[in-house]
Amino acid sequence: MRGILLAGGTGSRLWPITKSVSKHLMPVHDKPMIFYPLSTLLNIGIREILVITAPTDRTLFHRLLGDGSQWGLRLEYAVQPEPEGIAQALTIGEDFLGGLSSALILGDNLFHGMDFGSWVRSGVELAGGHVFAYPVDRPSDYGVVELDADGRVLSLQEKPAQPRSRYAVPGLYFYDTEVTKIARTLRPSPRGELEITAINDYYLRERTLRVTVMDRGSVWLDMGTVADMVRASEYVRVVEERQNIKVGCIEEAAWRAGFIDDAQLRTLAQPLMSSGYGEYLLRLLG
Ligand code: G1P
Repeated sequence: MRGILLAGGTGSRLWPITKSVSKHLMPVHDKPMIFYPLSTLLNIGIREILVITAPTDRTLFHRLLGDGSQWGLRLEYAVQPEPEGIAQALTIGEDFLGGLSSALILGDNLFHGMDFGSWVRSGVELAGGHVFAYPVDRPSDYGVVELDADGRVLSLQEKPAQPRSRYAVPGLYFYDTEVTKIARTLRPSPRGELEITAINDYYLRERTLRVTVMDRGSVWLDMGTVADMVRASEYVRVVEERQNIKVGCIEEAAWRAGFIDDAQLRTLAQPLMSSGYGEYLLRLLG
């Protein structure tokens, strides 16, 4: 399975902050926003990742993340010329995926406390699509999934004015090898985007969409507005200070996944000593 991290868009909901710098490079407490979704892919065990950015941001992302080899990853880059929808990431990423199944994650989504990787690592062959459901207070801001009493999926809608449930679909999607073909058949929605909900709906109609309700204790935050970003920063700060751990630490995730060894982690810590981040990495080594 390969990963796609979508960090495109104009960030207009955060203007003027994001007029010259991508939203995904903004600080969320002590690290750039993109570290959170990237570390989620690593936690799942994915080490080959395509980072999709807006054309003008590409060099900045490369300066931050490089080719990923320092973390035992293979990172590649592609651009999304215009923000024409999340599903477009799957056609942009078609060559990169090389006929393998995929995990698509949005660059402004933060997940914490959920072991998404367990079923991936259990080696179960993915047939169809697999997405998640998370109860929120304003489902109309998101893709919404309606479930029956037995947890079966009844319907999916993108930002419905009158949501049929309080379950939002977070920005982490697992697909089988068919997804790029499906993505190529999509037409823009009334808001002019190739909707990821349309892909999920295709799988639903094929009866191959699996939806897992995220555990009660797990956290999903979207960081698309100033208020969301502040809330996510606060969340990360509270957890990190209380537990003396880091959330979304790429170096730690790579080390725990076995992508890098102790010596490599020690090398990564050196240039990060003055911020305290490096000290944290060294502490992991005991
Ligand atoms: C997008 C998707 C939506 C999903 C959300 C998760 O919304 O269209 O289905 O629930 O991401 O963050 P957007 O960020 O484009 O408002």
